[in-house]
Amino acid sequence: MAEIKFYCTDPVPLELHKVRIVQKLDLVPVERRVRAMAEAGFNTFLLQNRDIYLDMLTDSGVNAMSDRQLAAMMVADDSYAGSATFTRLTDKLREIFGTEYFLPAHQGRAAENILAMSFVQPGSIIPMNYHFTTTKAHITRLGGQVEELISPQGVELTSSCPFKGNFDLDRLERLMADKGRRIPFVRIEAGTNLIGGQPLSLGNILAVADIVHRYGSLVVLDASLLQDNLYFIKTREEAARDLSVRQITRKIADAMDIIYFSARKLGFARGGGIALHDRALYERMRELVPMFEGFLTYGGMSVREMEAMTVGLEETMDMDVISQGPLFIRYMTEELEKLGVPVVTPAGGLGCHLDASRFLPHVRQEEYPAGALAAAAYIAGGIRGMERGTVSEQREADGSEHLASVELLRLALPRRVFTLSQVRYAVDRIKWLYDNRDLVGGLRFVQEPSSLRFFFGRMEAVSDWPDRLAQAFRRDFGDSL
Ligand SMILES: Cc1ncc(COP(=O)(O)O)c(C=O)c1O
Repeated sequence: MAEIKFYCTDPVPLELHKVRIVQKLDLVPVERRVRAMAEAGFNTFLLQNRDIYLDMLTDSGVNAMSDRQLAAMMVADDSYAGSATFTRLTDKLREIFGTEYFLPAHQGRAAENILAMSFVQPGSIIPMNYHFTTTKAHITRLGGQVEELISPQGVELTSSCPFKGNFDLDRLERLMADKGRRIPFVRIEAGTNLIGGQPLSLGNILAVADIVHRYGSLVVLDASLLQDNLYFIKTREEAARDLSVRQITRKIADAMDIIYFSARKLGFARGGGIALHDRALYERMRELVPMFEGFLTYGGMSVREMEAMTVGLEETMDMDVISQGPLFIRYMTEELEKLGVPVVTPAGGLGCHLDASRFLPHVRQEEYPAGALAAAAYIAGGIRGMERGTVSEQREADGSEHLASVELLRLALPRRVFTLSQVRYAVDRIKWLYDNRDLVGGLRFVQEPSSLRFFFGRMEAVSDWPDRLAQAFRRDFGDSL
């Protein structure tokens, strides 16, 4: 997607693709939306698709595929062992990352499981710029602990800092010096998910690798959101302006010991895996693949998806492809900002992020403002977002609530899926909700699983606020959907 100038209006992001397959959507009446939200226990994960108009829950496994990806799926080599599809995928990773070895896994968290089982033991410390839900769950399950070293700007929700995902290098140096022996690896998360898809700079990534290697630990890249991060390095980092996306990718990969990813994100398909340079590291993890995932040449993935991933990885090297997400997200974020709606700035990757703490300042953190905003956005517009705040945390060992450092509602923009008019509709309904924010109240748990509670937990509204919100909708929109 290029930034094309317009003759008589301000430019809008212009697609360099056309749509050839579509899926019909429904927009159900607001009264049904209130009921559907209650049936889903005020948890957007538990909504049924038939009740959803814009599914902005995630980009995971729901990005639009290209014609070339679909064509490649037809030539997949379906065999249990020795599949040519696996060789093609490994070759593509070698070409892009320069990695010799590849361990396939059925998705990103499965790669995290293998990594954690190979390196984490009770007392281990795993530093990272910021945690991701499944990563932290695997590390803590094995008795390790996560240490977040995000730079102070990372959790400032409104900022002009171009690389809010950066590590605080001084803290990393001190931690490595004090506790290096308990640190088997440091994890770098590209396109830092939970703070709004915020990138790290190439300079910061390379500096982290230098520090960690000086202390003899390993550097692991979670490359799930690398494609957005590559776009931001290319467009925001002076020192990288003259490098191609391929060259930036290679510089990053050369400095890593292990690269793992969710191919539901990176490569626009479904699957995952671990790419490595070193044979000894590869052998250390290898036996866990057939035990938990599947034989070494498919690792729980369908070979069709592996073929699509191979093509998707190649397409990730193309700025016209990887710019679509960030440019649409920037458009949505800036339109909301113009209307005074509190959003995370600068716009990152993955989706547009609303700052629930400023959107709903009257809802206490113990009553889950980001969860309440997710429910309200669904009622206001049939828009399904994802809570990324305290509901997505897990309780402390003593059962007390772990209040998140940021309360966000993520409205993901899966790549090439939504049109600009759908984005404008979402902006319109969010603005309406903001003007009626006083009507929105909090939530409380009625069923709370002990881990990853945001997936299955059920909540209820603390008052009849959902009905009052629906009445306000009817008052303002008449019998419109
Ligand atoms: C940064 C990051 N790491 C890991 C994962 C886990 O990947 P998966 O959903 O494929 O298990 C995700 C998924 O959203 C992610 O965003």
